[in-house]
Amino acid sequence: MKTNCVTVSNDSISFTPKISLSDSTYPLHLFSFDTVENVDESERLKFASMEILKDNLVAFPTESVYGLGANALSSSAVSKIYSAKGRPSDNPLIIHISSLQMLETLLSPSPSLRPPPPSYIPTIYHPLIARFWPGPLTILVPAPVTIPSIVTAGQPTLAVRFPSHPIARALISHANVPLAAPSANISGRPSPTLAKHVLSDLDGRIGLVIDGGECESGVESTVVDGLREVPVVLRPGGVTVEMLRLVKGWEDVRVYKKGDDLNLEENPTTPGMKYRHYSPDAVVWLFEFKDVSDEITVGLMRNRIKEEFESLVAEGVNLKEIGFLRTLNKFVSIDGTTLEYYLGSYLQPGAVAKELFKGLRDLEARGAKYILVEGILEQAEGAAVLNRLRKAASRTIHV
Ligand code: TXA
Ligand code: MG
Repeated sequence: MKTNCVTVSNDSISFTPKISLSDSTYPLHLFSFDTVENVDESERLKFASMEILKDNLVAFPTESVYGLGANALSSSAVSKIYSAKGRPSDNPLIIHISSLQMLETLLSPSPSLRPPPPSYIPTIYHPLIARFWPGPLTILVPAPVTIPSIVTAGQPTLAVRFPSHPIARALISHANVPLAAPSANISGRPSPTLAKHVLSDLDGRIGLVIDGGECESGVESTVVDGLREVPVVLRPGGVTVEMLRLVKGWEDVRVYKKGDDLNLEENPTTPGMKYRHYSPDAVVWLFEFKDVSDEITVGLMRNRIKEEFESLVAEGVNLKEIGFLRTLNKFVSIDGTTLEYYLGSYLQPGAVAKELFKGLRDLEARGAKYILVEGILEQAEGAAVLNRLRKAASRTIHV
């Protein structure tokens, strides 16, 4: 299959203004999010949405990472996602919507029924939706019969996200169907944050990629489950736990930890628990620290990394095949090494998150067989960064 890559500019898409959501007593179904209005490059997006309606796959940018979209209402379209990615069939997908009405219609027991006040969406999510949608937040709702079971992999819940990226929103709204969309990478590989990453994994396996430039947040959306007695974060992401805790009903939200619920982990309904994830082909070693508040701790960390580096060289690993993902200090390299990628300062976790997958892919493309990663504190977006790195790493060294 030949893969076409078309460029669409964000600036070409405009929206009608949204009604202010500041009044929290406003019933949710009346919340009106801004809608896609004017699309200069509508021909390309129209073509892409026609591909969706023909049951073909379209890779598209979102504010988190690139997604590989298919019509979520069509089993045969969704099955193509699993084969293109080589994704295990028991790993459920997130559906992407472009309006709350789209979700209300899916959750409605009958298409003719209007949503009851306040809505079919569980009330626990209303303040989250008002605060974070459209954006990098995925919620679990009871799976409706309207969604084929291949999307949910037979789970009783459905993961839903309303992305903020103009191209994602315009594509969904043109197609007028929800899109099932995992990250647009070969299963197990780092998620793509640039169209070229999608092509490097999926060229020849899908028909169309929309190139909308670099993704803003760089890590996948935060996945939350509010259907449990105490809400949990199943996957930390762009919306941080600290931000969630400021929202009514989410003050006590906890982050799911490996081992909390072994039955659930066997089901792969806990993102990233069952399968290998985020890994380049290179061997990844993660250096984690508890505190890097001063020069001394930074120095200790550097020494520890240097020791490991030297032992790899002593074992006969080619110096040119050892890469470094760096967060500590841009200007201090380990002697003789050239293969490095500066993620940004550990003091700026948002910037590091944005670069993370790009850095892993870049070092690999430049020939790294080993990637030694300087860590980050587990705060704000640092939680998402560490969550991905711990899964990518075959070894974690605590300094
Ligand atoms: O930011 C994102 O979420 C990106 C963009 C494209 O939207 N999508 C994404 O999808 O990361 P994916 O498939 O790569 O990761 C979704 C994760 C998977 O680990 C899956 O197991 C989990 O969400 N998931 C999906 N449905 C679920 C459900 N019903 N219950 C629990 N976890 C679910
Ligand atoms: Mg993924």
